[in-house]
Amino acid sequence: MKKLMALLVCIAMMAVSLGVLAEETPTLVMATNASFPPYEYYDGDTIVGIDAEIAAAVCEKMGYALQIDDMEFDSIIAAVSSGKADFAMAGMTVTEERKQMVDFSDSYATGIQAVVVKEDSPITTVDDLFAEGANYTVGVQISTTGDIYTTSDIEEAGLGTVQRFPNGNEAVMALMSGKIDCVVIDNEPAKAYVAANEGLKVLETEYAVEDYAACFAKDSELTAQFNAALAELTEDGTIQSIIDKYINTGDAAEATDGEAAAE
Ligand code: ARG
Repeated sequence: MKKLMALLVCIAMMAVSLGVLAEETPTLVMATNASFPPYEYYDGDTIVGIDAEIAAAVCEKMGYALQIDDMEFDSIIAAVSSGKADFAMAGMTVTEERKQMVDFSDSYATGIQAVVVKEDSPITTVDDLFAEGANYTVGVQISTTGDIYTTSDIEEAGLGTVQRFPNGNEAVMALMSGKIDCVVIDNEPAKAYVAANEGLKVLETEYAVEDYAACFAKDSELTAQFNAALAELTEDGTIQSIIDKYINTGDAAEATDGEAAAE
């Protein structure tokens, strides 16, 4: 009798663990570069932000768990196209050049390339950077659209120098210490960095307006699934409520207060 009980318990346990295995949710790995508030940044050990939350909501709708891998912005496209990551969300701008290497989802946000300067800077509009005889040192995050635009508009045009940093935070630190004259970076991170550091401002004039989208390996079946889930979550207001949570509420600025100093 005892043996029979033990056997039954055993069988029951195996059945339970098999069931758990069978129901285990598959995981999608998302590549990002988490020094880009309010889209992706660290809150303690956790990567939070607009992209992290939209990704979590979209993956849940698609029936996947989400794992976020933080890496250099520079490595993201290669990680996605080689299959090391299933997709990327990184406040990434859709560009023709990137489209040669990856497929983009529908766009979920607009980005603006903005210019951050010290409050007393002689640079007062974006056009000052391209004025005849201008000779400013411009900081960017390497391989971003800010890098691509300023390399061609400023460096190759002989109007100044571009200094490339591994992330936006280091570019802003270089600006704070007077090593460079301005930082060209996306508008929302620009505002977050200005809120977290004394004596900086974002110029009112815009450098460029862009679309953000998730990217996938070429011809991945995930792109269409992602778009379908994204459309539903746009329709029911989830995407807007995630964006509102981080933008215009002051939360993003608060959340990044410690970040510039910490990194
Ligand atoms: N929107 C710009 C680009 O696509 C900058 C993105 C930087 N993103 C980041 N997570 N660091 O090039």
